[in-house]
Amino acid sequence: MYTTEDGIQRPSVKKTYTCPTLSTFLFYCAIVVVGLAIYLPIDMNYGFLHLIKQFDLSSPKNLSFHTYMLNKLGWVKLDNTKIWSKEELSKFTGDVGEDLYISILGKVFDVSKGYKHYGKDGAYNFFTGKDASRAFVTGDFSDSGLVENIDNLNPDDYLGLLNWLELYEKEYKYVGKLNGYFYDSEGMEKEGLKIFYDGVSKGKKNKLLDEEESKLFPSCNSKWTPETGTNVWCAKISGGISRDWIGFPRQFFKPGQTSYRCACVNEKYLNDPRFKVYTGCDPYATICKISD
Ligand code: HEM
Repeated sequence: MYTTEDGIQRPSVKKTYTCPTLSTFLFYCAIVVVGLAIYLPIDMNYGFLHLIKQFDLSSPKNLSFHTYMLNKLGWVKLDNTKIWSKEELSKFTGDVGEDLYISILGKVFDVSKGYKHYGKDGAYNFFTGKDASRAFVTGDFSDSGLVENIDNLNPDDYLGLLNWLELYEKEYKYVGKLNGYFYDSEGMEKEGLKIFYDGVSKGKKNKLLDEEESKLFPSCNSKWTPETGTNVWCAKISGGISRDWIGFPRQFFKPGQTSYRCACVNEKYLNDPRFKVYTGCDPYATICKISD
């Protein structure tokens, strides 16, 4: 009870505030989660939009509604470009005044603007109308070398292929995927791409190890003159690495390789079997004359 200004006693009115409780909120959340859990798998498996003919979603197959919407919003990039057959692509070699197309790692590019390289009289016309990914890193431009198969290459070669792909993506118009070694007729990735991805990741790992290794065993300085022949030597700066030790020049053989490079080796690693003293050079000399 409270008393008003004019002295009348009135019952207090308790002001109540209605807001959704935490449990109500959680209940609605649960409904949304269950709804999505039912909807998303169905959407992904059956691609509802495929059932509606007005949407031309030829590839990839089973495009889901939510993916389509995410694409419209620009949050997901969809590749709905053409899937090429080898036969179709083989016509784009510039023979009959047609455009020039090449495929690398299963991605087809319009290279017509690079006519001087790829045209009929260009030095690289043999790359047109096909996927010859392997030849990009082997340099084997014979018929048996101009193939898409990229297995059993060196890890470095896969990085080389990645560089080529990046060049085409930067310089030329991407026009679709080739049904072959890298993609199937639905534009889905095949074993060939897995070989590529694995090779690239191995190549990147090797590159990091190589970088570590060249810090640990920097290359030697070297100089050739007609009077002195070739000399290799170590100093506090060599191979682009500056350090607080000098090291001794050694032939550095990597496991399984017959070729070697000259490395400046810190005395704590001198017993490592990968290092060989230059013939005729004192093991503790910091400069060696190369005799062969
Ligand atoms: C594995 C070996 C090689 C491959 C696969 C290869 C491939 C190519 C390709 C595809 C292009 C055109 C790039 C573009 O579209 O912009 C090109 C350009 C060129 N290549 Fe090669 N090449 C190889 C080796 C060589 C060698 C050994 C030389 C030098 C003797 C050379 C000299 C050139 C030159 C001068 C250009 C033109 C660059 C320009 O005008 O932008 N290539 N190469």
